[in-house]
Amino acid sequence: MKKMLFVANWKMYMSFGETIKFATRHFDDFVSLASGMIPPAEGENTIVLCPSSMALYPIIKMFNETKIKIGAQRCSPHIYGAFTGQDPARSVNEIGCSHCIIGHSEARREFRLSEEQVAQKFVHLLDYDVTPIVCIGETKEEFDSQKTLSALERQLSPIFEAIKTKTIVHDYITPYIAYEPIWSIGTGEVAGNQHLDMVFCWIAEKISKNFENRPAGGAVPQIKLLYGGSVTAKNSKTLKKIDKISGFLVGGASLDFQEFEKIVK
Ligand code: PGA
Repeated sequence: MKKMLFVANWKMYMSFGETIKFATRHFDDFVSLASGMIPPAEGENTIVLCPSSMALYPIIKMFNETKIKIGAQRCSPHIYGAFTGQDPARSVNEIGCSHCIIGHSEARREFRLSEEQVAQKFVHLLDYDVTPIVCIGETKEEFDSQKTLSALERQLSPIFEAIKTKTIVHDYITPYIAYEPIWSIGTGEVAGNQHLDMVFCWIAEKISKNFENRPAGGAVPQIKLLYGGSVTAKNSKTLKKIDKISGFLVGGASLDFQEFEKIVK
């Protein structure tokens, strides 16, 4: 059985106080979901909770001794300096995050992130031993005019280039690429399995083509794929049939513990 990753992206849906309250109320639920959900013989799944940045530290402390992992929702493309309001990948590591979401369409839009900035974040996270979860996806217009693959190519190329120029890629870190059609996020609209199958196969092929000739000494990164965009308990049953999917990035549905539990189970 495949090892799956379930990422709860709490976005900015809860304030600091609400986040602590929610996590405290469901502490035992989350812990038992992460530890006992599937017998180890069938493969171990991972749950990553991503609270907004101010709640990161107390949530990390709360789940410290458990199997629950904590991820950040952002990091800076810069390493150090006069960048008011930003936090570097080094801090994401030092605070105790195992994962970090980057390139989310909401962040790309709000902060006008360039593809190169997303790639810089990716590299810095690898440098500081944090697993990057890079989001890519096309707009509705691009989907309707069959430009999905060119949109994804534009977003993936700088990431692949960044990996290729890195001398060391830690083979103990598995970066994730989350395909999230922008028009699916928070809308309840999900593309059919035929489209998703085609896209996931295309991404997987891109990865193997890009790294098959990687020079000796640089470990070929083992990249895994997630799906995100209006995932619910109901549609996750159909979505998980897509062979290349190794987990889900769940937004709205992760705010309801019972719903999230059903997705994981
Ligand atoms: P959604 O969000 O599940 O609410 O569509 C997914 C995401 O943006 O990560």
